Formats: sequence, structure tokens, C-alpha cells
Amino acid sequence: MLDLQPLKEEFIQLYGDGEVECYFSPGRVNLIGEHIDYNGGLVLPAAISLGISAVVRRKDDEVIRIYAKAYDQEVLIRLAEINPLEKVSNSGHWSEYIAATLKVLMDNGENISGADILIGSDLPLGAGLSSSAALECLIAYIFNESYYHNNRTSLALDAQRAEREYVGVQCGIMDQFAVANGKRNNAILLNCSTLEFEYIPMDFKGLRLVIINSNKPRALAESNYNERRKECEDAFALLRTIDPAGDLCHVHEISLSCLEDDVLYRRAKHVVLENKRVEQAVVLLKNGTVEAFGQLLTQSHISLDADYEVSGNELNTIVHYSTHFDGCIGARMTGAGFGGCCIALVENDKIERFMTYVGKKYTEKTGLTASFYFTDIVDGVRKW
Ligand code: GLA
Repeated sequence: MLDLQPLKEEFIQLYGDGEVECYFSPGRVNLIGEHIDYNGGLVLPAAISLGISAVVRRKDDEVIRIYAKAYDQEVLIRLAEINPLEKVSNSGHWSEYIAATLKVLMDNGENISGADILIGSDLPLGAGLSSSAALECLIAYIFNESYYHNNRTSLALDAQRAEREYVGVQCGIMDQFAVANGKRNNAILLNCSTLEFEYIPMDFKGLRLVIINSNKPRALAESNYNERRKECEDAFALLRTIDPAGDLCHVHEISLSCLEDDVLYRRAKHVVLENKRVEQAVVLLKNGTVEAFGQLLTQSHISLDADYEVSGNELNTIVHYSTHFDGCIGARMTGAGFGGCCIALVENDKIERFMTYVGKKYTEKTGLTASFYFTDIVDGVRKW
């Protein structure tokens, strides 16, 4: 979480003295349940203390000025020019997530007025920790705080809609839900077909959750992501002719053998077994059986690599050396994959040695430098 005072001072330098409001929107890690939110499955994400902070001053005019410190760039959005029926340009520019979210709010009939906003972040951008969901939820919350305050599922759905309809990534609901509904020291067990959820207290006993950024830029992540979704749809279209399940996650394992196409078979196998791993993970966490939970993390990674094919050399290298370190009980990629971050559960007193070992091996094997983060599990998007 960024220190707020310097951000406020920068705001005053940029936009002058006067009243301001401050907001924070967290990133997320997914503990387990990967690539199954869009298949009606269970996921177990948590909001983290790395996130996006904003200093805001309301104005009566029709112009939103937003300065993003990470890019040293200001964007000017004239509300009168926003057309909620049009997609945003989709060039990957950070302001598109903002424009997309404003379009959803306006399409919902919100009356939005101008503002000056300074955005600062300690959340690595585009690294699989949901920087886009954090930004969408932040903007929606800033412009409709009183509505979303007790209505965080609507916030998540609106933010997801911004990304799907206007940015064009066919994402599931997990990221926006975690950013909106995060709770301190708890993960969220979310049923993605009903949106019912339960908080699961996180107590890793003498272990620490480490986030390891591969610093590998996520190449073609959007098109690969949309392709995986399509493969799941194709697999389910075939399976539903012989299996009564309402979605791919709930197809019986025995039905999978009817898939003749090897790619579709492996995709569906990952989805069905990953959903079961989440169920097991929750039982283990509730019983305090952390060791076995760690093993599930590693099994999840193996399946994401071999069957779902969303990992890659960099993430595999991190998981390989993490799991070979005596003191790490499990590791996996987290988020969409194709680069981005891994998580590992490591004994508290071995963290320094873990970072030295994995960091060194990773650089030797890939030429890249990994970053390590230790975050707390925090509440969802909020006003400071
Ligand atoms: C991205 C998407 C999520 C989810 C994950 C994979 O983060 O935004 O909806 O599908 O990938 O689990």
C-alpha cells in the first residue's frame, strides 16, 4: 500500500490546494481454482495489500483529468464525448479501463460529473495480480461509492462488464469479485455459477505466502485467454450430449473419455479436477492441514502447465526451484498465466534463503530477475 501523504502532496502540486478524498483498490492473488471461474467452478482468491491508490477532487464541470504516476501521463476524458454504445479503442492503454468503466456507469444511468484524479500504484501492472480489475473497481467505486458500499457484487459485475464488453477480454468474475469483496486475513471461496461466497480465514501456521513475479511480459495473454474459453465451450458442447452437468466444472470425470480430441480432453480434465482441488483445499484449510494444501497448489500448477497449457518456461522454472527448496510446501502460477506471477508457501524462518536460491536459479535459467513480494490479505476497494 503506498504512503498516502506524498501522493496527496503530488496531487496538490498538480491540481492545486483544496479538499480531496482518497481511495484504495487492492490487487488479488488466487490461491487455487485457476481458469475455472468462467466454467462455473469454485475459486479461492484473496485481496492483497499491493494495490492502486487515488487522490480525488470533485468538480462541477464535465471533464475528468486523470494522472497516472506509473506512466507519468495525464489523460483527459470529456464526459459529453463518452458514448456507452461504443467499444473503447483497445490498444492496451491504461485509460481504456477507465473509459470502459465510465461507459458502464453511464449506461446504468449514473449521473457522473467531473473530477481531478491522481493515481499511484505499488501493484505491478500486467503481472497477473489483477491490476485491471483493481483499476475498474476503483473508478466505479469513486463515481458511485454510496451505491456500491453495500452492494459489492454489483460493483464486481459492473467492473467485469467494462472489461468484457468494452475492452474485449472475456474474463470471468473472479478478479473483480476479489477486489470488491476482499476481507482482511480471509480468502473468498466463490461459487462462480451462483456468486454465493464464504470467507475462509487464512492461517498458514509458521508459513508465509510469497508472491514471485517472473517479470516476463505477458505476451498474447488476451488472445490465448479467449482461445482457452472457446476450447472449454467446445468441450462442454460435446460433453453435455452425454452428461447432465450444468457446466464444464461439474461434468463427471468418467464422461471425459468421450472427448476424442486430445486438446479438448486435456482442457476439460484440468477444469474438472481443478474444481475438485478447490473443494479439497477448503477442507484442508478448515482443518489446518496446511502441508497437504501446499501439495494441492503444486498439483494445480502441473495441471495448468501440462493440460491447460497456460504456464511457460519462466513460471515453470520458478515453481520447479521453489518446490525443490526444503522449506517450501507448494507453489503454483497464479492468475491467467502466460507470464506473470507465482505463489509459494514457505517456512517463515527460511524466507531469505528461499529468495536467494530461487532468485539465483531463475536468473541462471532464464536471464530474467524475479521480484518477491510479501503482502497482507486485506479488505476490498474502499475510501481511506
Ligand atoms: C484472469 C481472469 C479471471 C480468471 C483468471 C484465471 O485473471 O480475469 O477471470 O479466469 O484469469 O483463473
